[in-house]
Amino acid sequence: MSSSATAIANGRDSGMKTLPGPILLLGAPGVGKGTQAKELVKLWGIPQISTGDLLRTNVSLGTTLGKLAKEIMQRGELVPDSLVNEMVAVRLQQPDTANGYILDGFPRTLPQAGWLDGRLATQTQALPVVAVSIRVDYNQLLRRITGRRNCPVCGTIYNVYVKPSKIDGRCDVEGATLVQRADDTEKVFVERMRAYEAMTAPVVEHYRTLGRFAEVDGDRPIAEVAAGIIAAVERLRAIA
Ligand code: AP5
Ligand code: MG
Repeated sequence: MSSSATAIANGRDSGMKTLPGPILLLGAPGVGKGTQAKELVKLWGIPQISTGDLLRTNVSLGTTLGKLAKEIMQRGELVPDSLVNEMVAVRLQQPDTANGYILDGFPRTLPQAGWLDGRLATQTQALPVVAVSIRVDYNQLLRRITGRRNCPVCGTIYNVYVKPSKIDGRCDVEGATLVQRADDTEKVFVERMRAYEAMTAPVVEHYRTLGRFAEVDGDRPIAEVAAGIIAAVERLRAIA
């Protein structure tokens, strides 16, 4: 099904005259990239590509990449660019990316951004990237990270403070026991923020300079943040 057909099937008008194309969600740990990516998936019917989720799948499957990534992630540091780029290259070969995709947590270094820009520049049919950065203050991020719980089966994201499941510790969708990520401690969060400031903040500036960029306030209800991102993408796509 095409993205617009999916949007219509979902009962919502995507409002866009073109295909969604590649969309980047940028922002610090806990700003809501994953939460918002899932909203956009529902609207546009294009896949979410979360490098964090792909790496965690590799860790749980015990692949060579997972064994390399596990301790790096538990320290809150970044996995080497070459490994992440290769993982994304493989994912982008899947046919479900033809109408576009939502990149969540990638690129998060300037070399990763250079790799992605270079790759898209060689694809004559590809729409250019549009990037949206989500902003939330530090104390709010810490509360979101320490309160987050995830469903290991369907990936639904909860928060014990602001978005609890109906039954404590159980997923609303299929009742699976919710889990807390190994890196969702205050100590590792501090390291993740350090990595974000050093390595990913320059990526935000990179896309700001390119002009196909918008910033939204992430400290609002989830639906309002989603509406802000959708409006920004539609505006940027109209000029890109
Ligand atoms: P990754 O999994 O990408 O983690 P992250 O960037 O730290 O972001 P998070 O997933 O923690 O937060 P999010 O923005 O998705 O927020 P969420 O929607 O869950 O990466 C993990 C690790 O993998 C990295 O540290 C690194 O080691 C490695 N890695 C990944 N990509 C890499 C790359 N490209 N290069 C190198 N290494 C890489 O929301 C958070 C909480 O807030 C939830 O509880 C949610 O319910 C709640 N919430 C969301 N929105 C709202 C709202 N509007 N109001 C109130 N609460 C909200
Ligand atoms: Mg995430």
